[in-house]
Amino acid sequence: MKIIGISASPRKNQSTAFALAQCLDEVKLAANASEIAIDIETIDLAGLKINGCISCDACKKGLLCSQNDDFKQLIPKLADPEISGIIIASPVYMGCMSSQAKAFIDRSVLFRRNGFRFRNIIGGALAVGGSRNGGQELTIQAIHAGMMIHDMIIIGDGDHFGGTTWGKHPEGHAADTTGITTARNLGRRMIEVAQRLQKY
Ligand SMILES: Cc1cc2nc3c(=O)[nH]c(=O)nc-3n(C[C@H](O)[C@H](O)[C@H](O)COP(=O)(O)O)c2cc1C
Repeated sequence: MKIIGISASPRKNQSTAFALAQCLDEVKLAANASEIAIDIETIDLAGLKINGCISCDACKKGLLCSQNDDFKQLIPKLADPEISGIIIASPVYMGCMSSQAKAFIDRSVLFRRNGFRFRNIIGGALAVGGSRNGGQELTIQAIHAGMMIHDMIIIGDGDHFGGTTWGKHPEGHAADTTGITTARNLGRRMIEVAQRLQKY
C-alpha cells in the first residue's frame, strides 16, 4: 500500500516538513507493527512552481493539464492506483492553508474529472501555525473540503481534526510535543482505517 505526504510550505525542511515527517514516521511504524507492506513518498511543494487553475477545461479531455509548470510532473505520481492514502500538510497562512496547498488542491481537479481517481483514498490533513491556536483547525477543515470534493475518506487524528502543530514554539518546532503527538496520531489513524478497509 502506498501513502503520499504532501508538504505545502514554500520553505524546505522547516516546520511543516518536520510535522509531516513525524506523521509519516508513525505511518511506517504502525504499518510495520501490523506487518503491512508500505511504500511512503513525500512530495515537497517547496521550490516547485505550481500556478492556480485557470479553468481552461483541458482536463475534461483526459488526465492532462494545459499549464506547463511543475504540477505536470506530479500527475503520473498521483495517478498511481496503488495509492491508499494522502496526507496534506500546510502552514497556516492568514488563518487558512498556504497558496501552495490551495493551488495543488485546485489543480488536482483533473483526477476528479477523469473518473474520480481519488475516490475512497484515505485523506488526512495537518496544519502548522506560528501561533499555538492560529487557525490550524480551519486550515485542516479547508483541506478536508477539497478531499470531500474528491470523494475521499477523511480521517482525523483519532481525537480531533488532524495534526495541529506549533511552528514557532519558543524552544523550536521540534519541542512541540503536544502537536507532534497529534501529527503522529494522524499517521497511526491512517493505518488503522486502511486496515479496516483492507486497503493492502
Ligand atoms: C504570509 C504568512 C501568514 C501567516 N499567517 C499565520 C496565521 O494566520 N496563523 C498562524 O498561526 N501563523 C501564521 N503564519 C506563520 C506560519 O504558519 C508558521 O511560521 C509556520 O510554521 C510556517 O511553516 P514553515 O516553517 O514550514 O515555513 C504566517 C506566515 C506567513 C508567511
